[in-house]
Amino acid sequence: MLKKQKYDSAKTVPDHAPNLFNPFDVNGKGTVRNRIFKAAMSEVLADIGDNLPNEKHYRLYRRWARGGCGIMLSGNVMIDKSALAEPGNVLLEDKSHFDRFVAWADAVRETAYPDTQFWMQLNHPGKQTNKFLTPHPVAPSAIPLRQGLEKMFAPPRAMEGHEIHDAIKRFATASRLSQEAGWDGVQIHCAHGYLISQFLSSYQNQRTDEWGGNPENRRRFLVEICREVRAQVGETYALSVKVNSSDFQKGGFGDEEAYELIEVLSGEGVDLFEISGGNYEGPAMLGALHDSTRKREAYFLEFAAEARKRTNVPIAVTGGFRSVKAMEDAVATGATDFVGLGRPLTLDPDLPHHAAADDGYVRDVGSPTTGFKSLDDMIMLDGAYYETQIGLMGRGKKPKPEISAWRTVWEIIMSLGMMAFKKRRA
Ligand SMILES: Cc1cc2nc3c(=O)[nH]c(=O)nc-3n(C[C@H](O)[C@H](O)[C@H](O)COP(=O)(O)O)c2cc1C
Repeated sequence: MLKKQKYDSAKTVPDHAPNLFNPFDVNGKGTVRNRIFKAAMSEVLADIGDNLPNEKHYRLYRRWARGGCGIMLSGNVMIDKSALAEPGNVLLEDKSHFDRFVAWADAVRETAYPDTQFWMQLNHPGKQTNKFLTPHPVAPSAIPLRQGLEKMFAPPRAMEGHEIHDAIKRFATASRLSQEAGWDGVQIHCAHGYLISQFLSSYQNQRTDEWGGNPENRRRFLVEICREVRAQVGETYALSVKVNSSDFQKGGFGDEEAYELIEVLSGEGVDLFEISGGNYEGPAMLGALHDSTRKREAYFLEFAAEARKRTNVPIAVTGGFRSVKAMEDAVATGATDFVGLGRPLTLDPDLPHHAAADDGYVRDVGSPTTGFKSLDDMIMLDGAYYETQIGLMGRGKKPKPEISAWRTVWEIIMSLGMMAFKKRRA
């Protein structure tokens, strides 16, 4: 096992990846050791019903902290008990059990290198919450999910004005609480088809009041959230947003509006844009893209290169990176400041150390299958496989990349029971 060692990161910049391991000042919010950004991945490790961080979270993040990323994001933390994305989500609404959130930040601080930051991702799922968990979901407009998802997701009702204001306050309150608990920053999840992403899309948001109807109105919810968060946390706390480059959906949020959004938010005190894409109806973030895009590893790098011309705010691009060469090249092009990693870090929590030590480093991620597509889809085997790896680390064990598809099915039924067969997330 790699031992924790405090060291001067400047001395450890390897010849084969000088850009990737170059320390970086995040918009005046502190210098981080390298450009490796652990993207948010829902841990689903909270006990169902209490929705609190626990020992499993602390163990998991200690493990990742030893790996040496520049910035680490938590999985999405919910801001409203009546709107969870998944049964095992962490929820942060108020100061009850505040000590658990302090302990989570402490677990990372005590373990991580001093130049690693730990940010909390906040989310509201809107209509992307399965009907067994949320039978009456809300959304900007009463538009149900399609693509066969209507079987698993209840049709939403349109939010009322006071509910929109309430959600804005909740994002801001949870941000302030994360700051008080000792975290280094917060990220607002505006991607992947969740509530904020629903507001941004002209297909998902068909409101005719001040929250819909034109791009400015559709952005209003997010802009108000950023303003309220800043008002609550002050100037020194890091504020990031995870945005879609596109929803890849006809009539939905596309790249031109995404560029405009980035320009607008650059004037709203955002410290870092993380770029992703897709939603439950078209999960581009997990590689539902052309083969050629998947092969070149960086799914959204071209978008970032264009976004770069529109903003001076730091950028992270997440999705598809597997080799140290592609990571280094992405940062070297200047299109992105950080390389966001999800699945590879569930299989190799020491990825930054390994990538620094080996110029040929590659961490491939597979798509496990039982051979029965309908079972794979029903149990969301792909996601379940990575959740299982996360769960193993939460229980103090090593990831097991070699775990079979059937073992994954077993593990997920053991931990979730019948919920395993009810779509949990994309
Ligand atoms: C198990 C799992 C859980 C995820 N949970 C979240 C989440 O809570 N918030 C989020 O923004 N993205 C989430 N994602 C998406 C990742 O952050 C990332 O965008 C995606 O995995 C693509 O990056 P990769 O190719 O490096 O895995 C999740 C992905 C996986 C595999």
